Amino acid sequence: MEDYLIAENLKKVYQEGEKGVVALSGVNLSLKRGEIVVIFGPSGSGKSTLLHLLGGLDRPTEGKILLDKADISCLSDEKLSKLRNEKFGFIFQFYHLLPEFTILENVSLPSFIRGRGNMKIFEGRARSLLTEFGLSERMNFRPAQLSGGEQQRAAIARALINNPEIIFADEPTGNLDKEASDFFLKSICRLNQENRQTFLLATHNERIAKIATRALTLREGRIVKS
Ligand SMILES: Nc1ncnc2c1ncn2[C@@H]1O[C@H](COP(=O)(O)OP(=O)(O)O)[C@@H](O)[C@H]1O
Ligand SMILES: [Mg+2]
Repeated sequence: MEDYLIAENLKKVYQEGEKGVVALSGVNLSLKRGEIVVIFGPSGSGKSTLLHLLGGLDRPTEGKILLDKADISCLSDEKLSKLRNEKFGFIFQFYHLLPEFTILENVSLPSFIRGRGNMKIFEGRARSLLTEFGLSERMNFRPAQLSGGEQQRAAIARALINNPEIIFADEPTGNLDKEASDFFLKSICRLNQENRQTFLLATHNERIAKIATRALTLREGRIVKS
């Protein structure tokens, strides 16, 4: 099968005053469609940076990112955010739900931004996703009124609303208890099997490795095992 997402010699240097912090120093990586790949590595090894670059949330200092053979590292900000909105889903450790909006609004937002259809259609899909994730009674609550596990389920629903090809998850079970993280793992397996969605997950959770097709380890900004 063809490679779907490729990173070539990715480097990232953060400018911190006078000196630069090297977060990634030449990462090569390729993902095929339908893979579930986990990235292990100690804190500070560059996991979040790698996900942010591959997901188009930040730009590499050097190197290329190819999606379906097209170089996305040189897209304009506008084109890159459109691509993110249509093809990528993100799940973060601290959920990043907008506090002033309800759960239903949070989950509908990416499809509202995408703008194909009307609010009724967006909310309809958001409602059915939230129901699927056991949140039918919580839709009109604000994030702070939900437990960590519930917020994470809402964040998964939000990541899925535009039916992304690839889902990036940064320490997605970092704040979940065993039951909630097992639910998360089951959901990934199901989505991967039903929709052939590709996953790239940064984690410390060894249990995630069990569902992965492949595991990589980052150390000091380099892949040391793959
Ligand atoms: N915005 C930033 N500005 C400066 N340094 C950063 C920034 N983000 C991350 N870093 C540094 O880059 C390195 C890799 O960080 P990160 O990608 O967050 O690692 P991980 O997710 O594996 O903990 C660390 O040394 C971190 O301090
Ligand atoms: Mg991190």
